[in-house]
Amino acid sequence: MPHFAAISVAPPDPILGLTEAFKADPNPNKINFGVGVYLDDKGRNTTLQVVKAAEQRLWEAEPSKNYLPIAGDAQYGELTRQLLTEGVSVPPGQASLQTPGGTGALRVVADFLAHNLDRPTVWMPGPTWPNHPKVFNTAGLPTKTYRYFDSAHNSLDFEGMLADLQNVPQGDVVLLHGCCHNPTGIDPTPAQWQQIAQVLKDRDLLGIVDIAYQGFGDGLHEDAVAVRTLLEAHVELLVCQSFSKNFGLYNERVGALHLFSSEGDSAHRALSQLKVIVRTNYSNPPAHGALVVRTILADDQLRQQWQQELAGMRARINGIRSQFAEALNAAGVGRDFSFLTRQRGMFSLTGLNLEQVDRLRREDGLYMVGNGRINVAGLTPSNLPIAVKAIARVLS
Ligand code: LMR
Repeated sequence: MPHFAAISVAPPDPILGLTEAFKADPNPNKINFGVGVYLDDKGRNTTLQVVKAAEQRLWEAEPSKNYLPIAGDAQYGELTRQLLTEGVSVPPGQASLQTPGGTGALRVVADFLAHNLDRPTVWMPGPTWPNHPKVFNTAGLPTKTYRYFDSAHNSLDFEGMLADLQNVPQGDVVLLHGCCHNPTGIDPTPAQWQQIAQVLKDRDLLGIVDIAYQGFGDGLHEDAVAVRTLLEAHVELLVCQSFSKNFGLYNERVGALHLFSSEGDSAHRALSQLKVIVRTNYSNPPAHGALVVRTILADDQLRQQWQQELAGMRARINGIRSQFAEALNAAGVGRDFSFLTRQRGMFSLTGLNLEQVDRLRREDGLYMVGNGRINVAGLTPSNLPIAVKAIARVLS
């Protein structure tokens, strides 16, 4: 009797499954607006020059491939934490772990909450990254949604968000997107973050911040405003940080988990439990990508080069947003797409429905996520007119 005979087929992942379908599509004009990977104006994802420079240094100097500690490299933990906390006084309890990507950090957090707190419900924005509920549910935690997106105006439903957060029961946990909200591209303003932080503080709620696009919105410092504001309000936090996008280290799986606690002793105990979770899962983190990040952050010249390359990616994303909105407007699509220019990061919800998304895929080879999310970094000067024409057709 085959042991696996009763297993059913799982549905493809809504984002990474799309990349598989895209690769299998023979259409020579196909365009991938699905997965959140930065592409340049020729539609290529290329390794950052600064990463190549850091890798060269490592290749020459790295003495050993010995195991890292369970929590990873301590200097990496410190440098990556500083990217978030510049200019704020941090709470007495802190711990940082190097993790395999931002998703790895989220899963460590989920297991930690399941094993070490009282299996709290995790509240997330509606909508959120589709993998968020899955990561927490797989660890055995229930998830619920707070209002976030106002689909009628393609903007933030701030009143709804605040009202829902005010009703989150004590003991539950609130997941927030640090910047460049995925999938809407809509972030609260700095003043709104202050109000959000105040609600979390008043209700004594633990926050999880997922920050995967720092530097893709308004700037490295600007994009950490949520974390800084929450820390200034003395909210306890677990921050999951990804370097896939801002260092272009997608396949190296580089991330970090930072715990901020109002008590030094609690952070110390929590770190010991987080290490148990890591040890029983992947034992200790992979080194290469994190060493690249550490090498860059620890060296003034490389750091400056990184910030320039990051600024270049940011400028292209924000520029293509304006060009896309203008071209849609000029094509007379009969809808206001000016929201594209107000949103930040790689994503926007276009407002296209599943049927329209399906048609674009079948008839034009345009791949976007089923909820109508587009990765604007997939747009190039040469494919933008094609995309606009196709979108205008399905909207007509
Ligand atoms: C995305 O949302 O496209 C990215 O975060 C990549 C992923 O892992 O889904």
